[in-house]
Amino acid sequence: MSLLAVDSLTRRFAGLVAVKDVSFSVASGSITALIGPNGAGKTTCFNLIAGALAPSSGSIEFAGRSTVGLPPEQICARGVARTFQIVRPLAGLTVLENVMVAALVRERAVPAARVRAQAVLERLGLARKADAPAADLTLPERKLLEVAKALATRPRLLLLDEVMAGLRPTEAARITEVVRELRAEGLTVLLIEHVMRVVMAIADTVIVLHHGEKIAEAEPAAIAIDPRVVECYLGNLRKRRG
Ligand SMILES: Nc1ncnc2c1ncn2[C@@H]1O[C@H](COP(=O)(O)OP(=O)(O)OP(=O)(O)O)[C@@H](O)[C@H]1O
Ligand SMILES: [Mg+2]
Repeated sequence: MSLLAVDSLTRRFAGLVAVKDVSFSVASGSITALIGPNGAGKTTCFNLIAGALAPSSGSIEFAGRSTVGLPPEQICARGVARTFQIVRPLAGLTVLENVMVAALVRERAVPAARVRAQAVLERLGLARKADAPAADLTLPERKLLEVAKALATRPRLLLLDEVMAGLRPTEAARITEVVRELRAEGLTVLLIEHVMRVVMAIADTVIVLHHGEKIAEAEPAAIAIDPRVVECYLGNLRKRRG
């Protein structure tokens, strides 16, 4: 069964079609990766799914109901949580307080939000930073904080936008492990990632965007040898890395 289904999704910005007639679904309990070159429309897709942007046309259904036209907080309350590619914690608050703010989407009372936030920080290995100002975190820690904020809302679908970018392999491995555990607990994950090692290791299905269009969808092994995907994206990535 699919938890998320987008159909003929299109988003225009002035003269540019950032997402063009894209259709895909995300199976419940799966890890699905959205990949493609810079500017392919990946983050715009997340903004559409999370309600930060409205589609120019097309439909988005989460758990069988349309989310088009709903504000982001209502989509989040339904169970869709996202991280931001550009990390932006509430800098005047501590790490714990940042996560508590997110937890209050689900919990009515502050003590319950605190308990939830502490549990999430523990799980992500950030508990020792709970009382630090969020502004003092290193980049890897801010990435983890983004994941923590998303998880604190108790999502059914987690959207991760390049959470591994800029991380050392051991740090990326930690997040990868957490994503696997979350999936084992029933969470569905849609992730945007340029780190192919991670995509190949954890994704069940890979969707490839190029100039706003979906050009491929398959399991990782098939994507890795798809001539069109290699030509427009993977070939360049491999060359860049030598
Ligand atoms: N709010 C906006 N206004 C105008 N153009 C935008 C806006 N958001 C995105 N775009 C444009 O839409 C296209 C797709 O951008 P998007 O951020 O979705 O790409 P991406 O696949 O996430 O790329 P990257 O891998 O670099 O993060 C780009 O050409 C971008 O400049
Ligand atoms: Mg992006």
